[in-house]
Amino acid sequence: MVEVQVRLARAEDREAVFAFCQHTWENQSDYIHLVWDRWFAQPKGRIFVAVVNDVPVGIARVFIVSDSEAWWEGLRVDRAYRGLGIARILNSQIQQFLRENNIKISRCIVRSEDKVMLGMMARRNRSIIGHYIPHRSTPISTVESLSDLVFTQLNFPGINLAWELVNSSEFYGENNCFYIGPGAKWQELKIELFKNLIERGLVWGIKQSDRLVGLAIQSALERDKKVFWLGYIRGTKESLQILLLELRHLAFQKKYSSLGGFFPTCDLLLNYLEKAGFWKSYTGEFSLFEWDDFS
Ligand SMILES: CC(C)(COP(=O)(O)OP(=O)(O)OC[C@H]1O[C@@H](n2cnc3c(N)ncnc32)[C@H](O)[C@@H]1OP(=O)(O)O)[C@@H](O)C(=O)NCCC(=O)NCCS
Repeated sequence: MVEVQVRLARAEDREAVFAFCQHTWENQSDYIHLVWDRWFAQPKGRIFVAVVNDVPVGIARVFIVSDSEAWWEGLRVDRAYRGLGIARILNSQIQQFLRENNIKISRCIVRSEDKVMLGMMARRNRSIIGHYIPHRSTPISTVESLSDLVFTQLNFPGINLAWELVNSSEFYGENNCFYIGPGAKWQELKIELFKNLIERGLVWGIKQSDRLVGLAIQSALERDKKVFWLGYIRGTKESLQILLLELRHLAFQKKYSSLGGFFPTCDLLLNYLEKAGFWKSYTGEFSLFEWDDFS
């Protein structure tokens, strides 16, 4: 049995990590080399590295999205060292780090074809709390608005009304209320975060006779700033399609090359996405897992 140690990433790990990440998957390239420098620099993130004889053979990253929530990502083990318990060791070190920092809730996403990870999560009794499918679309130069539905950027005075609607049962979307932040990190949409997003001009809505009936929040892709990425969408049956079309138009006006987002597998929403010219950019589903770091 090899002796494995886990420590935080160092600048000099970069090349060794990039080298084994070239072989992460058989038919797909990895993106770790594209995000490493940013991940390394962000104070809210920690990259844990498993080393054997001082050589990096595995990584996992955790990002603190709020004072009670963590997001797990980037678990990779060098092919030559798989099946030796390295992911298990990284997992327990991260869990310990989160407990020490009093972070109670952890989440991550796993693709439906990733049987090893799905098995690992199930054996740890981590529950799936949602399924998501990424979609893409193209910007459009015009949109035929319906006279009584008005697309608008939300501003601070409207916040209470908007917040009521975030939690409204009239709204189609998902049961859980998550904002999918930059770099695809799910976090609970709480009022403070919502206010902050409004202040930053990232919240858009559809009003019908001055009543807010649809809401969308802009997010971002970590690796491609030319894509208009959505982090949240919800609305009444009548508003969703027009909201999605207006967002395509907004992306055009703001000169984005394309748009997209992760959308919950709610039939109605998927149906409107298709009607509004969005297509699935992945044939499977992403499962969102959540667990309590203290249990
Ligand atoms: C997934 C991955 C990180 C596992 O790393 P690893 O060090 O080989 O895993 P471990 O040896 O620590 O095993 C972890 C668990 O997975 C199980 N496992 C490992 N390899 C397996 C395999 N090929 N088939 C089925 N189960 C497997 C182990 O039995 C163990 O289960 P347990 O801890 O519940 O008892 C590694 O295969 C990898 O880098 N894959 C490509 C990247 C990837 O898919 N990352 C996850 C993205 S969400």
